[in-house]
Amino acid sequence: MAHSTLTSIPSILLGNGIGGTVAIAVTVFIIILTVSIYFNDRPYSGFLKIGRDESTWRAKQRWLSSAKSLMNEGLQKTNFPFQVIANCGPLIILPPATMDEIRNDDRMTFKAWLKQHFFTTYPGFQGFIPAVENDVFVNSVRIGLTQSLGQITEILSSETSITLEELFPFSTEWLKIAVDYTVDFFTAAYVLRLCPPVLRPLVHWFLPQTRRLRASIKAARRLIEPELAARRLAQEEDRKAGKPVEKHVDALQWVQSAAEAKGLHCDPVYGQLNYTLGAVHTTSVTFVNILYDLMAHPEYIELLREEISRVFQEHGKWDKTALTKLKLMDSFMKESARLTPVTMLPVNRVAEETVTLSDGTVIPKGATLGVPTLRSVDPSVYQDPLKFDGHRFYNLSQQPGGATKYQFVSTSNDSIIFGHGKHACPGRFFASNEIKIILVHLLTKYELKFPEGTTDRPKPMEMGADLMPNPEMKILIRSRVDGVVNHSF
Ligand code: HEM
Repeated sequence: MAHSTLTSIPSILLGNGIGGTVAIAVTVFIIILTVSIYFNDRPYSGFLKIGRDESTWRAKQRWLSSAKSLMNEGLQKTNFPFQVIANCGPLIILPPATMDEIRNDDRMTFKAWLKQHFFTTYPGFQGFIPAVENDVFVNSVRIGLTQSLGQITEILSSETSITLEELFPFSTEWLKIAVDYTVDFFTAAYVLRLCPPVLRPLVHWFLPQTRRLRASIKAARRLIEPELAARRLAQEEDRKAGKPVEKHVDALQWVQSAAEAKGLHCDPVYGQLNYTLGAVHTTSVTFVNILYDLMAHPEYIELLREEISRVFQEHGKWDKTALTKLKLMDSFMKESARLTPVTMLPVNRVAEETVTLSDGTVIPKGATLGVPTLRSVDPSVYQDPLKFDGHRFYNLSQQPGGATKYQFVSTSNDSIIFGHGKHACPGRFFASNEIKIILVHLLTKYELKFPEGTTDRPKPMEMGADLMPNPEMKILIRSRVDGVVNHSF
């Protein structure tokens, strides 16, 4: 036996017969794999690397648990820029001062970042295709959604009211698809980023989350296609009858109109899923953080109720204009997002060519870069920056020239929770209205507080640069009996 084993090794290596060919293929694969794992995700040259000298795998995990302290370490050691091994591989962290250069520079794009870090070429991840391939999705939000706010705000308000009366139901099939797809999408992207790049084209077929993504797309298609067919039929009938073709006020229509305006086609299923990916987790995380801050600062609950009541008495309904008058609420929301943003790195780009910044920093082609929300807590920008002050932006907005500068939706180099510049979030106007409407209904109809003994808001959980509200926190909620202003919303 020993003899035959010894003689078989050289014969396998020399490629004798089918066994030999397979063995050579396996050996070559292992060599390529080892070399690729070693060379992929290597740090960029010319940038100080923060973090221990450890395997890429360990470094990626360390980023997931300690991104904030790694960035703080970088700040203490250097005056920027520096790099870390993030879960997506090497990541250059740029100083907030570079925002003016980054924000409108087409050589470093948000699209390339989405494409690279959300694996849009793998089946299941097509939900970001409309945002990556062209401007159809961005235009559908910027033009379709934002310009329809006047028409949809009152509808949104009555839908919120019904939803609350039915005690937070989670009934419709679409809602389930939207939430499941979003959760699976971001989890799957996290898992794949941890994987060495060379293995990803194989691994993505087998992850439970990516399997569910593919199933969700099929389920979404089953739901959306009959609706589209019915619309096409109705439009055909309108045309035959010589009537103007009915345009719907919803995301299916906005995506279609944005695509047609550019002579392009956008798969309506991906368009809808792109809306859920852009809107679901960002808005819910921001909203839950606001709720936690309200309960940690309950003195604002009465103040906000007074504002709600006053605006309703003046205005008589909850439309787009009425919402702009909720100035204290707007200030409270911005203060909450200033101290607890959805992510500590809201501005992300991938350089599509080598770029030399004005301070001489050379960003290599293909590099991933991010700008952190540091100015939000910079004492030279905000007085007593770590203190929660729900009136902070209200007071700033009263200063000359401050009216539009300090709104929840305003962006600047000092306030990048929605990004800033060319790619600043176009959905922020809708998100702001949506959050205000929910707060109006919740505060008017319910008492909310932390359980006995809890006074501080729970600290957010860090997942790399992303911040998640602690899901374990319990909130006591009951209908208000006294003092309810009898609005019909
Ligand atoms: C509170 C909720 C939200 C937050 C915190 C948020 C945050 C962001 C951030 C940080 C960016 C990147 C900006 C940059 O790189 O400069 C972004 C981009 C974007 N967001 Fe939002 N977002 C929110 C809600 C929404 C909603 C509701 C929609 C759509 C309905 C949306 C659609 C988009 C789109 C299309 C982009 C890409 C813009 C571009 O590439 O030019 N977002 N968002």
